Amino acid sequence: MSAPFLHPFDITREEPLCAPLDYNLKSQLKDVDRCFKGEITAAARLTRDVKLFHVRLVAPEERQRFSFHPGQFVMVELPGFGEVPISICGAQQGFIELCIREAGNVTAMIHRAGIGAKVGIRGPFGTYFPMERMKGHRILLIAGGLGMAPLRAPIMHVTENRSDYGEVRLLYGSTEPGQLLFDYQYEQWRRVDGITISLIVDHPDAAWRGAVGTVTKLLEEITFPLDDSYAIVCGPPVMFKFVCSELSSMGMPRDRMFVSLERRMQCGMGKCCRCNVGSTYVCMDGPVFDFWTVMNLKEAI
Ligand SMILES: Cc1cc2nc3c(=O)[nH]c(=O)nc-3n(C[C@H](O)[C@H](O)[C@H](O)COP(=O)(O)OP(=O)(O)OC[C@H]3O[C@@H](n4cnc5c(N)ncnc54)[C@H](O)[C@@H]3O)c2cc1C
Ligand code: FES
Repeated sequence: MSAPFLHPFDITREEPLCAPLDYNLKSQLKDVDRCFKGEITAAARLTRDVKLFHVRLVAPEERQRFSFHPGQFVMVELPGFGEVPISICGAQQGFIELCIREAGNVTAMIHRAGIGAKVGIRGPFGTYFPMERMKGHRILLIAGGLGMAPLRAPIMHVTENRSDYGEVRLLYGSTEPGQLLFDYQYEQWRRVDGITISLIVDHPDAAWRGAVGTVTKLLEEITFPLDDSYAIVCGPPVMFKFVCSELSSMGMPRDRMFVSLERRMQCGMGKCCRCNVGSTYVCMDGPVFDFWTVMNLKEAI
């Protein structure tokens, strides 16, 4: 007679759980449906190592549905090469605008891919600049170098919704004149009532007639009180640390300054734990934080 069939559950039994496991509940399954097929429809070189891309979502209904808030990012996948987080620097007529610096493997291949290349787009993800809260107030928009990429969406927002905001000052610093991003738009922005732009470079060339130094020097131009104003500061951590400290000493509360943190990311949606600063997920709790929060995040900057 053959031995009776034993089910594994008859031999070993798991002890019942005393307490539920402490799962990471931050990631939401709803995020998995934010995946789109896209195509690069235009590419323009802005500087030596930065290009602006127009990506069109292939499906017309997804193009219609896609929306974002200034400060959010998408994960851009070049099939076979990898995926990178990139801030949305604008969106118009069904195109997502992405300003990408050639930094390493994936971004170099995106630069080479060119018009017609198929890309995967996931997102938009992350927190955003609180443009609603800033309504009716003066705003300082401050960028250093590639920080102009995440700052462009709030600039476009305040120019398109001009009557919602008080005076807007854009302060932008770069290493050299040839590295200033979106220079073809400065005249257009300057023509908008109540918006002023100040530029500064570390290393001027012979043709440069503007200010020389770091972007913090431009803060000397600010003469109005800052306690009721807001600031968005984008750039490398060393830059926004100096700028925010200076703004703080000029009277701006730290929870009125907003910065965008960059961390290496893989999933962009709270699943892989690549972007953590302690228990904070930069992809979901950020990338936009107020400076008070960033100061209190251990090892954030
Ligand atoms: C929320 C967010 C928004 C971003 N927005 C933009 C944008 O609008 N435009 C843009 O050009 N780039 C942006 N970045 C940075 C961009 O994602 C990285 O440059 C890119 O992932 C590098 O990938 P790679 O494979 O080309 O380079 P790799 O070969 O992976 O790395 C090349 C070099 O870049 C460093 N690096 C890689 N990722 C990061 C990072 N996240 N932060 C700092 N250093 C990094 C590596 O340490 C290495 O030294 C953003 C990053 C984040 C997190
Ligand atoms: S990038 Fe995966 S958890 Fe943030």
